[in-house]
Amino acid sequence: MSTRKHHLIARYAGIPAGRDPQLPVAAPVGCSILRSFLDLEAQRLMLTAVGRILDLAPPFRPLMPVSGRPFSLKMSNAGPLGWISDQSGYRYEERHPATGRHWPPIPEVIMEVWRKVALYPALPEACLINLYGPDARLGLHQDRDEAALAAPVVSISLGNAAVFRIGGLQRSAQTQTTRLDSGDVVVLGGPSRLAFHGIDRVLGDTSPLPPLPGGAARINLTLRRVSEPAMGSP
Ligand code: SIN
Ligand code: FE2
Repeated sequence: MSTRKHHLIARYAGIPAGRDPQLPVAAPVGCSILRSFLDLEAQRLMLTAVGRILDLAPPFRPLMPVSGRPFSLKMSNAGPLGWISDQSGYRYEERHPATGRHWPPIPEVIMEVWRKVALYPALPEACLINLYGPDARLGLHQDRDEAALAAPVVSISLGNAAVFRIGGLQRSAQTQTTRLDSGDVVVLGGPSRLAFHGIDRVLGDTSPLPPLPGGAARINLTLRRVSEPAMGSP
């Protein structure tokens, strides 16, 4: 069933049919992993664009709500809205928490991926940039701070590979891991939109790219539509 959904998206994305996407079987329907979706040239262009964003919106270390424990990764954002976390909670903000400036726009080279794979009639409002150091990880969580749950989450991996964990709609559900390489794109749509997922670890010396901006070992870009689009307007 997941495979059928993948093939639907793969056709839209211009991916040759017949490639085994090694879909995680534990994940609900609608989770697609588009392996090698971006060639090296596209990845390099994207890195340059991310470097420019980070010059304007420097990476910051988010804090866990309530406990105030720092995340092991750093973050920044592009787009009209940026996802942040601090002791007051998770939320979207129009401005960078340290500089007070609006987030830079989402570059066209990143928007292009959404256009090809999201199958959604409006553009993303947030591009969260996660910068992983060699020992950073991201605990099992759901992306659920968005009103537009009919829009998928589209996530792009750059740099070192990572062990991605994905499960079901309950934290206690069975989970499964799969490797995400630079250039892979994950789409969490349909029933998988609220699937629990996380990053267990970054795999060193696996990056096909020159050193990443911000000194990161791995960068993940997560595109999300936050607000429900107005009826009839794209
Ligand atoms: C996330 O869930 O926000 C990021 C996932 C990833 O780094 O691949
Ligand atoms: Fe996430």
